[in-house]
Amino acid sequence: MGRGVLDVSNLSAGYGSGSILQGVTLEIGAGEIVAMIGRNGVGKSTLMKAIMGVLPATSGEVAFMGQPITHLSPEQRAAMGIGYVPQGREIFPELTVEENLMMGETINRDKRGTRYDIVYAYFPVLRERRRQLAGTFSGGQQQMLAIGRALVGAPRLLLVDEPSVGIQPTIVLEIGEVLEKINAEEGLTILLVEQNTRLIARLAHRGYAMDKGRIVARLGRDQLTNQDMLVQYLAV
Ligand SMILES: Nc1ncnc2c1ncn2[C@@H]1O[C@H](COP(=O)(O)OP(=O)(O)OP(=O)(O)O)[C@@H](O)[C@H]1O
Ligand SMILES: [Mg+2]
Repeated sequence: MGRGVLDVSNLSAGYGSGSILQGVTLEIGAGEIVAMIGRNGVGKSTLMKAIMGVLPATSGEVAFMGQPITHLSPEQRAAMGIGYVPQGREIFPELTVEENLMMGETINRDKRGTRYDIVYAYFPVLRERRRQLAGTFSGGQQQMLAIGRALVGAPRLLLVDEPSVGIQPTIVLEIGEVLEKINAEEGLTILLVEQNTRLIARLAHRGYAMDKGRIVARLGRDQLTNQDMLVQYLAV
């Protein structure tokens, strides 16, 4: 274990006495965009939480850049370079864009303070509205802010959980373009949980399918651009 950016080995986790993840193993190499697909409730978000450490593992291991991190807190994992954009975005509606982005700065390893400019360059609308309350934004703008907040921490790995939910198609496309650009320009490695087949086809280099807390298939690029194939894994 330990040659990729992310190595997950036989990871199990759950809530209370219920086990959700049933021994998940996957690896992601530097610069990859990997999609995680699967129906509602199969455990995709649970996996993201367990990788970030928001939810403790009951068994198995997570390694980042070759270092075991299973015993570390979410803050420590963030400081090492894992950015997390949770499902539902979880921005602070009563704070401005700038204030929301500052929440990501506390974990910034690069103290030169240029990360705001980078985030604003990727999402110009955030610069224009930097003094406005995030709660007044559309879903798409809130998603941009959630991604921007994670980018302020200068991550090497970005975990993005269903960014397209509740967002109009043109904005989904725009967010997809930005993720693609950051991957190309900065070599940012991305694990993308998605059910939007167009976004998956556009972004992902390869993928995994999950069902009932397990990885049930490894998907190549050709499978990810095959809508019928994708729908098989997403349909109930
Ligand atoms: N906080 C929680 N407490 C107890 N059970 C939970 C909690 N969060 C999720 N679950 C349960 O764990 C299972 C997996 O949920 P999870 O959110 O990981 O699924 P998902 O694949 O992300 O689904 P979706 O596509 O709807 O986001 C579900 O049965 C869900 O009801
Ligand atoms: Mg989910």
